[in-house]
Amino acid sequence: MAKTILVTGGAGYIGSHTVLQLLLGGFSTVVVDNLDNSSEIAIDRVRELAGDFGRNLSFHKIDLRDKPALEKLFSATKFDAVIHFAGLKAVGESVQKPLLYYNNNIVGTITLLEVMAAHGCKKIVFSSSATVYGWPKVVPCTEEFPLVAANPYGRTKLYIEEICRDIYRSDSEWKVILLRYFNPVGAHHSGYIGEDPHGIPNNLMPFVQQVAVGRRPALTVFGNDYNTKDGTGVRDYVHVDDLAHGHIAALNKLEEANIGCEVYNLGTGKGTSVLEMVAAFEKASGKKIPLVIAGRRPGDAEVVYASTDKAERELNWKAKYNIDDMCRDQWNWASKNPYGYGPQDNSS
Ligand code: NAD
Ligand code: UD1
Repeated sequence: MAKTILVTGGAGYIGSHTVLQLLLGGFSTVVVDNLDNSSEIAIDRVRELAGDFGRNLSFHKIDLRDKPALEKLFSATKFDAVIHFAGLKAVGESVQKPLLYYNNNIVGTITLLEVMAAHGCKKIVFSSSATVYGWPKVVPCTEEFPLVAANPYGRTKLYIEEICRDIYRSDSEWKVILLRYFNPVGAHHSGYIGEDPHGIPNNLMPFVQQVAVGRRPALTVFGNDYNTKDGTGVRDYVHVDDLAHGHIAALNKLEEANIGCEVYNLGTGKGTSVLEMVAAFEKASGKKIPLVIAGRRPGDAEVVYASTDKAERELNWKAKYNIDDMCRDQWNWASKNPYGYGPQDNSS
């Protein structure tokens, strides 16, 4: 019988791409999302892209902190596992509004874990982040590196990781996989779903994409005095569809005995600078991206990229797409949906 997966935050960027792969992989998928940073149109499009499998998708507009609503959902459906994406993710906003972040991300997760435990569903894949490596002393980052957090957003990731380790220590029936994503970019090759952040994008590629479609005049480059090949920050960009497949690999891993609580990096293992990324996007789009060089962004690291050995060895997962593929698909999505899922006047 088809397995049924609950996906929290499934209307969001990584969630929508993962839900599509789940459906195509034959999973029955239930999404809960409060649509705080997403649109139900993404769910409709995923359903269309999934063709006949689209009928195995249902959506519930629920905030994770609404325990009675979650209880009701778990009473009505037996979930085989949960993929937990739901959370707020803007670093700057988390510094301004730490209680909002602790409440949304941590209280939301605790509520989810309590309801899961009460209903005997003890398998979860959680979206952590390379942010827990801070400014690493050496690269590539392996899963054993010391963990730090430079801001409230990062602390929510770190605390939730620790909460997961604690629940496993207290009850060995739990099977938990913590996935530390590096820098997800790109979009599904159809150009029908992609990233559509509300407000001014914090991350590099959504900003570049908005410059390319004329919504913003120029990209501000945060620092060109780093000790890197061209002075700009280096990151490990990974195609969102590769990440989506990483979640299927994690679900398969949860089926093995004695998983406990395991952590995996999801990245490509390759570092790319801001200027290299901009050049690749210009090549893919044929658009010039005007640049304004500015000072470093507080809290930014110099060079961060993943060691992918553990995920390759234990999840049998390896990223397939390169930077050119990522930029091609990002541009395909941006050019077809210059204002994302929303109307033009909602998009500033
Ligand atoms: P996103 O904002 O597109 O998706 C998150 C979804 O969660 C949104 O649809 C939002 O509406 C929903 N949500 C937030 N709080 C909720 C709540 N209390 N109840 C119900 N739904 C809620 O973000 P994304 O890029 O798809 O990221 C998914 C996860 O991966 C997040 O936890 C994020 O922190 C993590 N992550 C993202 C990146 C990245 O660069 N995109 C990197 C590392 C980790
Ligand atoms: C940022 C967050 C990190 C989070 C990750 C994914 C900070 C300090 N870190 O990481 O916690 O997990 O996003 O959501 O915010 N850049 C520019 N101009 C821009 C935007 C970015 O030059 O307008 C540069 C940055 O300085 C960096 C690179 O592009 O060198 C990538 O930036 P970004 O996409 O924000 O990702 P991270 O810095 O890795």
